[in-house]
Amino acid sequence: DIRAVVTGIGSCLPPDVVSNDDLSQVLDTSHDWILSRTGIAQRHVVRPGTSTGDLGTAAGAAALESAGRRRCDLVLLVTTTPDQPCPATAPQIAARLGMVGVPAFDLSAVCSGFVYGLTVASAMISSGGYDSVLLVGAETYSTIIDPTDRNTAVLFGDGAAAVVLERGTPGAPGEVLHAELGSDGSRSELITVPGGGSRAPHPAADEASRYFQMAGKEVFSRAVETMRRSARDVAEAVGWSMDQIDAFVGHQANARILRAVGKRLGIPADRIVCHLAEVGNTAAASIPLALAWAAAQGRISAGDRVLLTAFGGGLTWGSVALRW
Ligand code: ACO
Repeated sequence: DIRAVVTGIGSCLPPDVVSNDDLSQVLDTSHDWILSRTGIAQRHVVRPGTSTGDLGTAAGAAALESAGRRRCDLVLLVTTTPDQPCPATAPQIAARLGMVGVPAFDLSAVCSGFVYGLTVASAMISSGGYDSVLLVGAETYSTIIDPTDRNTAVLFGDGAAAVVLERGTPGAPGEVLHAELGSDGSRSELITVPGGGSRAPHPAADEASRYFQMAGKEVFSRAVETMRRSARDVAEAVGWSMDQIDAFVGHQANARILRAVGKRLGIPADRIVCHLAEVGNTAAASIPLALAWAAAQGRISAGDRVLLTAFGGGLTWGSVALRW
């Protein structure tokens, strides 16, 4: 019986930080509005020229080191902000980490990217085809955000985090126990970068089409209900009651969403991991960044029951139960 187990984790945040006060110098907003409505106090941003692949490579190197490995059999990048439309960024990350020859591909599920990636990586291992996978979540939303749009510019940050998954046995530390995914493309317009693809190739007539757009209010209520249902289903599938969950790591979009999901599920507030104050919403990187941060602080330790859940563009969603 082959199981996928997480054996290493690492992250990379670009050094430059933009505070809420910095944003209120250039936008009609305030530190108090941003902090109280979202839980975000600052975000890290790349300098021009630094790419998603740069951050992903650094996070991947840190995860490999944490797992005590030099290479993996497969490299998977989850991102919405690849270095270019073609080719995928994962092969470049693999090459830069000394893994020319291994299969490498990108997977796009927006903010649900990490739970999608973890599900795929874990299936590749448990099917017996691969012994190890480097799964990287990396984003540079600063490259797709309209800096003049206060509805989105205050929310996002750049960053990357990665995990190493290896072949293990049932009960081993880090075991991925169960996952479920979903999508609803009939509401894809709620979260979108409309231009630059085959439907509206660049140079697009509409300048705004190159930027990220989100119907914040509707996404908020859908996120709460969908994450609640998805997390509940996965917890039930592995037989965890809500008070047995040691760490609830939801996609880090808004602290109010995390609190609302936790409250509806009956998860004790001190089990909800919230890393938003430090990094904002980092889309596909948000869950592994929150995991790495919580583990570094000792908020997650060996044997803990960890429930991951996400909701984002697509629309997509999913949850994963794992033992730390
Ligand atoms: N500063 C000050 N005021 C603002 C700002 C700002 N940055 N942004 C909006 N406002 C104003 C609005 O204009 C509005 O003013 P009005 O009442 O005069 O019209 C008022 O604040 C309230 O706006 P709402 O949109 O109702 O604010 P809300 O409390 O819903 O917060 C937010 C907005 C933070 C975007 C929230 O809706 C949200 O978090 N949505 C979900 C995001 C999400 O889940 N994303 C996950 C998937 S997408 C992804 O992560 C890639």
